[in-house]
Amino acid sequence: MAFGARGIQVRRRLLHRAAAAGASLAGQTALVTGASGGIGGAVAAELARRGARVVLSGRSRGKLEALRAALARGSGSDDHAVAECDVRDAAAVRALAAAAAAHGGGALDIVVNAAGIVRDGLLLQAKEADTADSVQTNLLGTMAVCKAVAPFMVRQRAGAIVNVASVIGLHGNAGQTVYAATKAGVVGFTKALARELGPRGVRANAVAPGFIDTELTRGILAQPATKALVDAIPLQRARCW
Ligand SMILES: NC(=O)c1ccc[n+]([C@@H]2O[C@H](COP(=O)([O-])OP(=O)(O)OC[C@H]3O[C@@H](n4cnc5c(N)ncnc54)[C@H](OP(=O)(O)O)[C@@H]3O)[C@@H](O)[C@H]2O)c1
Repeated sequence: MAFGARGIQVRRRLLHRAAAAGASLAGQTALVTGASGGIGGAVAAELARRGARVVLSGRSRGKLEALRAALARGSGSDDHAVAECDVRDAAAVRALAAAAAAHGGGALDIVVNAAGIVRDGLLLQAKEADTADSVQTNLLGTMAVCKAVAPFMVRQRAGAIVNVASVIGLHGNAGQTVYAATKAGVVGFTKALARELGPRGVRANAVAPGFIDTELTRGILAQPATKALVDAIPLQRARCW
């Protein structure tokens, strides 16, 4: 069947609308770390909007509870849960994975690793404690969560893991050597993990966002060097709320 130019436009608009509405995630259980933050909170809200029951994780119970209440109001489902966890604590992370799977009746379908920090500064002035904290949170924390959730997903031979990396891990940025290293690490780790888990039915992907206006970037978005990067974003979409 041939489509006229107008028919093609209408069809494309319908496809875009369907993609924006997103596939239903009804009946699926999702765990989101960093849910008390900007990106994790927005991801959790979108998963809930699509029907998933979401386990919201972070360290700030107040923020997580506020998000849970907002999701319950918005989605009409009170099936979301709060689970405090510091991703630098491997034992706590194992308990988090078990609690999330228990919330899903034994199933854990989606895991989004959005917990992360920045401790920016020139390498020559970097404090060792900040470097260690960045590596422990951004890289080792992501690895710990993946290791803890993988057994549940492998057992069900299905699941999707999304690790939040960064464009800084791909391109680098002066004053962000440590952050760049942790995020490049997340990319390499995720590529290898995808190869390990793929044959077992589990997908692992990393996403590399550009600048998004959250607590994490508030201090640096105003800096002249950063402003140039933000100005270079073609669609000028930096807000996640
Ligand atoms: N914003 C951007 O422009 C941008 C760009 C590229 C990539 N990213 C990445 O996207 C992710 C989310 O960033 P965001 O902008 O949403 O930042 P954000 O608003 O500051 O949120 C960071 C989140 O990470 C959590 N977190 C930090 N340390 C933690 C720890 N030790 N254990 C558990 N949770 C911890 C925080 O929880 P609590 O506050 O409860 O401790 C918070 O929920 C990060 O990995 C970041 O590197 C951000």
